[in-house]
Amino acid sequence: MPKIQRIGVVGAGLMGSGIAEVHARAGLDVVVNEVSQSALDAGKAKIEKSLQRAAKAGKIADADVDATLGRLTFTTDIEAFADRDFVVEAILEQEQAKTELFGRIDEVVTNESAILASNTSSIPIMKLGMATQRPEHVVGVHFFNPVPVLPLVELVASVRTSDDVVARAEEHVTGTLGKTAIHCQDRAGFIVNALLVPYLLSAIRMYEAGFASAEDIDEGMEKGTAHPMGPLRLSDMVGLDTIKAIADSMYDEYKEPTYAAPPLLMRMVDAGLHGKKSGRGFYDYS
Ligand code: 3HC
Repeated sequence: MPKIQRIGVVGAGLMGSGIAEVHARAGLDVVVNEVSQSALDAGKAKIEKSLQRAAKAGKIADADVDATLGRLTFTTDIEAFADRDFVVEAILEQEQAKTELFGRIDEVVTNESAILASNTSSIPIMKLGMATQRPEHVVGVHFFNPVPVLPLVELVASVRTSDDVVARAEEHVTGTLGKTAIHCQDRAGFIVNALLVPYLLSAIRMYEAGFASAEDIDEGMEKGTAHPMGPLRLSDMVGLDTIKAIADSMYDEYKEPTYAAPPLLMRMVDAGLHGKKSGRGFYDYS
């Protein structure tokens, strides 16, 4: 089987832009797709900022910034994915939007050996696979934010994913991208979010109940357990809308109160307080 060279990324938000960046940094040709030109421009700006940050830190040479950007093509036309070897979906965490998109990707990708991957963290891979005519080629490849910094990728096979597709995806993320892969079953939240999200929800409940200030909750976990970020700051970074969507998927799957979104989280999401990306969450970023 030829090496994975041509990448397609759908979604240029926090995760999609990071996924596109790490592929371009690994020397691969990347097509990034979004629904609008403004979303593409915002994604491109995120990648440029991150590359400049990496160059400033001496992680990449200045010349690599332009070379990496040169390997990225931004388009609103998903038909540009026809020849892609590896497509990663990284759109919002909504089942219907994702299944519709997988149906569309299946129609446009003519490369029969292509791997169709999802960066979902909580929606069953089986549902995405069954939206296509090739569920054996559909696999979960879940990155962590910030993607250029965090080394982990969760690989998730549905009951229909072929072993060969999992092996090729693993070779790609470990060999080509230099990430560490872990495997898990097709269950909402996989390994990391199934453990992390109940913890973040507990912190939100603690804050909601007036136990302590946001700053003290975060400082407690940063200084008391050496976490790089406290739970409320981390929730703001991940996005409160994303945390709620993951919590809802896990609650749907397991029906356990530990996964239930607290009312404060629901109200903040309704109010458009989505964390760092919206300028305000538990903290103000304006
Ligand atoms: N993009 C690219 N690079 C970034 C970055 C970003 N958004 N943020 C930080 N970096 C880089 C910096 O350039 C710096 O690189 P250097 O060490 O080579 O100079 C390095 O990361 C450290 O950055 P800073 O010194 O500015 O800041 P910190 O030391 O405070 O680290 C952090 C920032 C890497 C975000 C760290 O706080 C961290 O790891 N936090 C926890 C993140 C986490 O838990 N992520 C998982 C979220 S869950 C998830 O993604 C799953 C999803 O499904 C919800």
